[in-house]
Amino acid sequence: MTGPVTDTAATETGGTPPAPGAAGVGSAEAAQRVAVLLEALPYIHRFRDAVVVVKYGGNAMVDPALGRAVADDVALLRAVGMRPVVVHGGGPQISELMARLGKQPEFRDGLRVTDAETVEIARMVLVGKVNREIVSAVNVHGPLAVGLSGEDAGLILAGARHPDLGYVGDVRSVNPSILEKLLAERLVPVVSTIGSDPTGQPYNINADTVAGAIAEALGAEKVLFLTDVPGLLADVDDPSSLISRIDADELQAMVDEGRLAGGMIPKVAAALHAVRHGVASAHLLDGRVPHVLLLELFSDEGVGTMITAGAAGGPAGEGSP
Ligand SMILES: Nc1ncnc2c1ncn2[C@@H]1O[C@H](COP(=O)(O)OP(=O)(O)OP(=O)(O)O)[C@@H](O)[C@H]1O
Ligand SMILES: [Mg+2]
Repeated sequence: MTGPVTDTAATETGGTPPAPGAAGVGSAEAAQRVAVLLEALPYIHRFRDAVVVVKYGGNAMVDPALGRAVADDVALLRAVGMRPVVVHGGGPQISELMARLGKQPEFRDGLRVTDAETVEIARMVLVGKVNREIVSAVNVHGPLAVGLSGEDAGLILAGARHPDLGYVGDVRSVNPSILEKLLAERLVPVVSTIGSDPTGQPYNINADTVAGAIAEALGAEKVLFLTDVPGLLADVDDPSSLISRIDADELQAMVDEGRLAGGMIPKVAAALHAVRHGVASAHLLDGRVPHVLLLELFSDEGVGTMITAGAAGGPAGEGSP
C-alpha cells in the first residue's frame, strides 16, 4: 500500500488494471501486495463488528495530508465491517483562534484553564470547524460520517473538574444511545468533546478523557489515541525510549512516580480507566505516521504502545489477532 508509484498505480486509483506480466500479475510487487492482504485477513475476521474508538489529537491534526490519511483509514475500517467512532481534540486550533482574539492560553497539568469566553471559543472551533473538516474528509468515501457534539442527545453529561479551571469539564456520565443508533445504521460518529451539565452550561472536556469514557460506555474492543509522539516514552526527551507494551499496574506505577507530563497525564489516565473497565486494549500511536491505524490494526508489526488490563488479560503478542 505504501510501495513506490509505478505503472500499477492506476489500479489503486480505480483505473484500468495493468496487463498480466510486466510489473503486474506474477511480479514480486504483486506477490508482496497479496502477502499484505493475507496478513490482514485474520485481523479483518477478528475485528468484524468490533467497535473501535479513535481519538484524533489536535497536534497530529495540523497536517491536511495526515488528516486525509486518517479519514481514508476510518473509511476502510468501516468498509471491512468494523464500527469506528472518531473522537477529536483540537488544542492547537483553539489556541490559534484564542491568539488571534488576543487571549493567552493557560494550562495546568495538561488541562486548559477555561473561562466563559474560552469555552465559547472552544465550542466554535471544535464543533464548527474541526468536526466539520473530519466529517467532510470521511464523506469523500461515501455518506458515512455524522458529526455530533457531546451536547447532542445527552451524549456527555459534564460537570466542573475543579473550580480553578473554570469550564473544564469532567465526564459525569455517557449516554451512548445516540452512538448505538448511528452504529446500528453503519454510520461513523465523529464526536466533538463539548459536554453540558443539567442546566445546559457547556464544558470543554479533554478529548482523551471523552474517548476513554465513550469506549467504556460502548464496550469497545479498542481505544486508539493518535498523538504527536511515537507512543509512551520511558524518557520524554528520547524518542527511541518507546515502551511497546505495558499493563495497567506498570503504567499506574509510572504515573505514581511522576514520569508523565503535560497532555500525557489525561491520556494515560483515560487509557488506564478504559482497560480497567472492559476495553480490551488501549493504544498510543504516532499520528504523524501516515496510515498508522492500518499498521496497528491489520499487520503483525507492533506499533506504538499497547496498554492492557494485566498480564493475564491480554493476548500473547502485540500483533496477534
Ligand atoms: N512519557 C511521555 N511519553 C510521551 N509523551 C509525553 C510523555 N510525557 C509527556 N508527554 C507529552 O505528551 C504530549 C501529547 O499530549 P498532547 O495533549 O500534547 O497531544 P494530543 O493529546 O495528541 O492532542 P490534543 O490534546 O490536541 O488532543 C506529547 O507531545 C509529549 O510532549
Ligand atoms: Mg491532549
